[in-house]
Amino acid sequence: MDQIKQRLDKLKTLLRKWEYEYYVLNNPTVSDEEYDITLRQLIELETKYPELLTADSPSQRVGGTASTKLKKYQHKTKMMSLANAFSADEMRKFDNDIKKAIGSNADIIYCVEPKIDGLSMSLIYQDGKLVSGATRGDGLIGEDVTANVKTIKSIPLQIDFQDDIEVRGEIFLTKKNFEKINAAIEDEEKKFANPRNAASGSLRQLDPKITAKRNLTMYCYQIPNEKQYGLLKQSDVIDFLKKNKFNVAPGIEICNGIEEVIKVIESWTSKRNDLEFPIDGVVIKVNNFADHNRIGYTSKFPKWAIAYKFPPNVVETKLEGITTTVGRTGRINYVANLTPVLLDGSTISAATLHNAEYIAAKDIRIGDTVRIFKAGEIIPKVIGPNIDKRPKDAKAYVPPTTCPICGSKLEKVDGEVDQYCVNIVCPARGLLNIVHFADRDAMNIDGLSNKILEKFWDNNIVKNIIDLYYLKDKKQEILSLDLHIKDKMFDHLVKSVETSKQANLDKLIYGLGIRHIGAITAKVLAERFKTLDELAKAPMEELVAIKDVGETVAQSIVDFFKVENNINLIKKLKEVGVNTKLIERKYDTSSPYYQKKFVITGSFEIPRNEIIKIMEEKFDAKFFGSVNKDIDYLIANDFESSKYKKAKELGIKIITEKIW
Ligand code: IVH
Repeated sequence: MDQIKQRLDKLKTLLRKWEYEYYVLNNPTVSDEEYDITLRQLIELETKYPELLTADSPSQRVGGTASTKLKKYQHKTKMMSLANAFSADEMRKFDNDIKKAIGSNADIIYCVEPKIDGLSMSLIYQDGKLVSGATRGDGLIGEDVTANVKTIKSIPLQIDFQDDIEVRGEIFLTKKNFEKINAAIEDEEKKFANPRNAASGSLRQLDPKITAKRNLTMYCYQIPNEKQYGLLKQSDVIDFLKKNKFNVAPGIEICNGIEEVIKVIESWTSKRNDLEFPIDGVVIKVNNFADHNRIGYTSKFPKWAIAYKFPPNVVETKLEGITTTVGRTGRINYVANLTPVLLDGSTISAATLHNAEYIAAKDIRIGDTVRIFKAGEIIPKVIGPNIDKRPKDAKAYVPPTTCPICGSKLEKVDGEVDQYCVNIVCPARGLLNIVHFADRDAMNIDGLSNKILEKFWDNNIVKNIIDLYYLKDKKQEILSLDLHIKDKMFDHLVKSVETSKQANLDKLIYGLGIRHIGAITAKVLAERFKTLDELAKAPMEELVAIKDVGETVAQSIVDFFKVENNINLIKKLKEVGVNTKLIERKYDTSSPYYQKKFVITGSFEIPRNEIIKIMEEKFDAKFFGSVNKDIDYLIANDFESSKYKKAKELGIKIITEKIW
C-alpha cells in the first residue's frame, strides 16, 4: 500500500507542477498528451484504491456530481465592491481625498492593477487544502461553487502555506475562450453578451463538468485580514500570492503619486484591446495597509481604492447596407449590415440604427465608415458616420414606406419616431404575437417555450393564437414529427393550454398584444369594463376619461377593435371557452403584500409562473420584469442576479422566504 501511495504522490506532484507551469506561468514543459496520460494513470489508481483518493488530487478537477441548486455561502469577511472614476480629474480628486484623510501632502504610493472583467471569488484554504469557493453575491452571502472552482486549473487545490487563509480574486474567461463558447451556441439570443456574463454563467453551473469544459481562469489580488500573515502592503500580498503559486494578473505596478498612476492608466487604455484577458478598467489601491483604516470605508466600498473605468470601445467599420425587420408590435427596426469587425471580444456584423429619423439626423449613408459601440447589450449601436472617410459613391438611404414583409402602408403614431406595420395578421408579427399571448404575464401557458413555438410555427402546426387551443387534436402529428417533444411534455402543454382558458380578463387583454397596453393598463381596463365585449365597444371619450389611459392608449384600443381579424379572433377564443370576463377575487387585504409591486428572481421549488399566479390570486400582487425604485419587494433565490444587486442598491425589501 505504501508503494501505491508513493506512486500516487509522485503522479499528483507531477500533475500539479505541470498545471502550474501551463495555467499560471504560461510556460508548459510537457505535451498535452503526456499530461493526459499521467492524469489517466492517476485516475486509474485512485479508482482501484478509493481509500487513497484525496480532495486535493488533480483528478478532482474533472468535476464531481451535479447538485440540484447552488447552496448559499456566508462570507467570513464582507466582500466589498469599488467606487468608480471615469477621468483623470476624478483620479486627482480621489488622491486629494486620501491625502486629506492621512493628513499629509506627500506623494501616495499606489498599487495599480488591471481591472479584470469577470466575477469575484473567495477561496478558503485550510491546512493547505482548498476547502471552499464562493461567489460574491451581495457581499455577505454568496453561492457555494466549490465543486466548480475545483475544475479551474489555475487555482491550486493544495498550497504549501498551512495556516487557514482566504484568497480573493477574479474568475474570468480569456477573450479566445469567450469567443469559443459563444461560437458553439447556435441560438443568437442565447449567446453571452460579454466575457463577464459568460464567465458567470460558466461558473454558476449545477454540473461542474460543464464548468470544467469552459476553461475559466482566475487572477488573485486580495487576502482578507492580511496583517495576520505579516503582509503590510498590497505589493506584499501580490508577492505572497505568487510565491504560493496563485495566478496573478500581469502588469501590476507600484506608482509614486497620482500623476504616475494616470500615466499607467493611459498605458492600459491604449493596450486594453490587445490583451488576451478582458479588462474594463484599472484598480488603484493605496499600497500601505497602515493607511487603510485612517482612510476608511463606506458601507459598500473602501475609500483607499478606486476603479478607473474605461470609456466604451468604439470601432469603425463599413456600412454595407440597411435591413428592416418587423417586431411583434409591428415596429420597424433598422439594422445596419456591417463588414465584420471585432468589438469587445466578439465579431460584429450587425448593429441597431434605431429608426429612419435617426439615420436621417445622423446623415448615415450606405458605404459610409460608421462608428459602433456596445452599450451593455449583445447588439451594438451605430453612433454615426466618420464623414472624413465618406466615399464619393456613398448613397443616401431611402427608408421604406411599406412593410417589408406584408407590403401594408407603414404608419407613425403621434409623437413617436418609429414606424409601424398596423396589419395585425402581418406574418412577421404572427409568431411573436403567439409568443406574447403565451407569456407568463399574459395567458401564462407553462411549457410553451419560444423554442417549442418556433418548431410548431415552422411545421405549420400553430400559425395563430387560436391554433393553440386545437393542439390537443394534433398529438399524433406532433409526436411523429420528431420535434423532440415527448408524450409527457405534450400532455403538460395541453393541460397548461386548458388552464389558460380560466385566466383572468386582464391577462387576456394584455395577451392580445394591443399596442401600448402593458400588464398594468390591462388590469385597469379589466376592472373598469368587466368584459372584453364592453371594452371593445368603449368609445374614445370613455377611454380617455380613465385615469392612466391617455389619448395614444385610447386610440390604440379603438383601432384594435376596428380590425375585422381581431374581432374574429375574439369570437373564436370565446367559442373554445376562453374566459372573457373579469373574475372577481377575494384578496387577503390585511396582508402586507396586498396590491404590492413585486419582481422575482432565481428558481424555486415550484415554477415561477405558479408563484406569480398564487400571489396574484391571494394578494392581488403585481409582478414586473425589472427592478426600479417603485418596486416594493424582490422575491429572490439568486443572489448573483442583476435584479438582486439592483434591489440591494435601491434598498428594496428582499423576500427569501416562502410567502405564497
Ligand atoms: S479589489 C475591497 N482588484 O472589480 C476591494 N477588484 O468593480 C475589492 N476586480 O468586486 C476589490 N480586478 O470583482 C480588486 N485587481 C482587482 C480587480 C478587482 C477586478 C473586480 C472585483 C470587484 C469589482 C469592483
